[in-house]
Amino acid sequence: MDTNCPIGFFDSGVGGLSVYSLFKKMLPYENTLYFGDLKNMPYGNKSKTELLQFAHTILDFFKEQNVKAVVIACNTSSANVYDIVKSEYDFKIYPIIQSCAKVISNMNFKKIGVFATVATINSGAYKSEIQKYNPNISVVEQSCPKWTNFVEGGQIYSEECLSNIKTQLDKMMCYNPERIILGCTHYPFLKPVLTKFADEKIFIDPSEIFVKFIFDDLKKSNMQRISKEMGTEKFFVSANPENFVNNASLFYKVNKLPSIV
Ligand code: DGL
Repeated sequence: MDTNCPIGFFDSGVGGLSVYSLFKKMLPYENTLYFGDLKNMPYGNKSKTELLQFAHTILDFFKEQNVKAVVIACNTSSANVYDIVKSEYDFKIYPIIQSCAKVISNMNFKKIGVFATVATINSGAYKSEIQKYNPNISVVEQSCPKWTNFVEGGQIYSEECLSNIKTQLDKMMCYNPERIILGCTHYPFLKPVLTKFADEKIFIDPSEIFVKFIFDDLKKSNMQRISKEMGTEKFFVSANPENFVNNASLFYKVNKLPSIV
């Protein structure tokens, strides 16, 4: 395998940049591709069949680009399609939920909340993945159907967003979780608002754990690119490249308008 081949990242939109931006800091020498599926966003209200179709289109595209690995920087796809696609391609596929569950289950909390999309919550993936490692942890799952649209619509400081976030937090706090997982890669974009109502320390953003997992695994599998030159990067979207660049700015500066594929 040629370690110069790129690593592909995908999400429904800008959310995956919360993972991608950390990855670029930790592994700046890797060549990378990022695909934001804005035409089909939000993924959270889609069926498993639709999500599988979107993932196949993106993974086939990455295959043509000769990737050495793909990062599913999307909880909804990790929860609903990873088990199916993992054996269909000859490159490694990293899913966010399954890659982080072990570390989260070892954190020694008894009760953990999860905010995620409807499709992630309906899959029960966080609960089953965490309890696989520690059945004594109680996991409270709560869907936030509007949050992705607040991020992709550039409305994170709107009245509607503020009041929706407060309502969701109030509901979750009734269960007294010790920590709350931001189980959708779009949700770290909402941290400036979430932290108006709750202490930042209560939130777990799985991106850090995820990127560390990928870093270790690439090293262990001798897949790391060894170079003194910084990695190249290319961005792709299925629609609305301008929106992508504007909304991305909270996490990553995208210098060139992404190509539409
Ligand atoms: N950011 C994605 C996730 O982590 C998808 C959100 C959406 O499109 O609804 O689940």
